[in-house]
Amino acid sequence: MFRDRLRNTRLWDRIVDAAEAARLITDGMTVGMSGFTRAGEAKAVPLALAERARRDPLKITLMTGASLGHNLDSTLTEAHVIGRRMPFQSDPVLRRAINAGDVMFVDQHLSETVEFLRSGQLAPVDVAVVEATAITEGGGIVPTTSVGNSASFAVLAPKVIVEINLSQPEALEGLHDIYIPAARPSREAIPIVAPDSRIGVPFIPIPPEKIAAIVVTQSSDSDSAVEASDAETDAIAWHLTEFLLHEVRRGRLTEKLLPLQAGIGTIANAVLQSFTETPFHDLTMYSEVLQDSTFDLMDAGKLGFASGSSMTLSTQKHRRVLSEIEHYKRRLILRPQEISNHPEVIRRLGIIAINTALEFDIYGNVNSTHVGGTQMMNGIGGSGDFARNAHMSIFVTKSLAKNGTISRVVPMVSHVDHTEHDVDILVTEIGLADLRGLAPRERAEVIVANCVHPIYRETLADYYRRALLRGGHTPHLLEEALSWHDALRRTGKMLP
Ligand code: COA
Repeated sequence: MFRDRLRNTRLWDRIVDAAEAARLITDGMTVGMSGFTRAGEAKAVPLALAERARRDPLKITLMTGASLGHNLDSTLTEAHVIGRRMPFQSDPVLRRAINAGDVMFVDQHLSETVEFLRSGQLAPVDVAVVEATAITEGGGIVPTTSVGNSASFAVLAPKVIVEINLSQPEALEGLHDIYIPAARPSREAIPIVAPDSRIGVPFIPIPPEKIAAIVVTQSSDSDSAVEASDAETDAIAWHLTEFLLHEVRRGRLTEKLLPLQAGIGTIANAVLQSFTETPFHDLTMYSEVLQDSTFDLMDAGKLGFASGSSMTLSTQKHRRVLSEIEHYKRRLILRPQEISNHPEVIRRLGIIAINTALEFDIYGNVNSTHVGGTQMMNGIGGSGDFARNAHMSIFVTKSLAKNGTISRVVPMVSHVDHTEHDVDILVTEIGLADLRGLAPRERAEVIVANCVHPIYRETLADYYRRALLRGGHTPHLLEEALSWHDALRRTGKMLP
């Protein structure tokens, strides 16, 4: 019954169509929209905005949680609506516009955007557009499949547009835990002591007067773009499992491990999925995006509880999880991304963080974002929040890209997202490098011996040997360090 979706009857007269709601957004505004890794984004108002901009041009700064589904970033980019975008995206059309310099993209740690807004270090949000399962009697917004930055956008913006999505099950209510830290300097500790700690309320608390328009929608989330595992992702998973079992045998971990975080993408999903076949049990997750693997582990009886900021699922999994959400709900929490990714909580819980690298170098510096050092791929996302603060920071990647024309282990990364100080373990399908407690020269030996594909190994070993002759704490041949990337740019491959 729609009455259960919009329980504050005084708000019934705010129901309008998407075009009318979109008129609240005007040229030059900063707009904060819901949406995180293709889940829970506002679906109708952005389309109406793009439609209007084709007739009557306007540009906005668009902030979201992370990436949007339904090709919304493509549509908005093609309509020239986006002047500035933050903090993350993964859209091919927007990516091209960013790399052409047409859109100013601010690539931010996902935990930081609303901290910057709250403290006035970013221009304030003029309008928030948030997808909801329901609006409570008191005007509280119940989010859908993601929380992302929606809570702070709605709290900080003077006007809020709510899209009530009838395709999102009402049973999602109760899943969310909305906690917003106080402004500094009077902030207290965030009282999360375990992944299942509930510390807030199950809706975004705002005064109902701020809800300026309500749009009713019906379209479900886009499905995830994760691909099936393959021989290489299986090998990466095998190396990592062997390593974690070794840690258990040494008494440094138990078979419950520690709360797990797994980044977006095929490799991280495949690694987590492989844990269904391991002795690990009573696992927990304290992550940002919950992918198919989370629910596979729950179904296998391996995972007891998962905390995240969004659920991004494949077609099949999406249908099943949402139709059985009552069954999963007692073992799930969705939180604001500043809490799911909060350095304080990550450090306290002792997370095992598993993220994917585009490339890494012989000393363990990781590039997650820039292809060839200059072209933005997606953004740093939450990888930095987790890598720097984790109990153990693991990066996984295949050793090669583009049919072997690219080695993902290079003399020097062409862009640094995670410095050697934030990287403990590196894994490719070739093997694993345990860098804990090693000095740069020792790190290089282990990485070259264990992680590099055989077709690049001798050339990389030769580079390192010649760099050693020059000496230094972190030896390099500076005139040659980026020559592999330069060759790729000029010839389409890193080595002759
Ligand atoms: N140079 C050039 N291209 C490269 C490359 C390199 N060093 N490494 C990978 N690529 C290409 C691949 O060939 C592939 O291209 P294709 O789609 O045309 O085949 C593409 O980049 C994606 O690589 P792959 O590693 O297969 O994909 P993925 O889905 O595992 O994503 C990242 C990897 C790094 C792009 C992704 O994990 C990411 O955006 N990470 C940053 C954000 C993050 O870590 N968030 C974590 C918290 S959720």
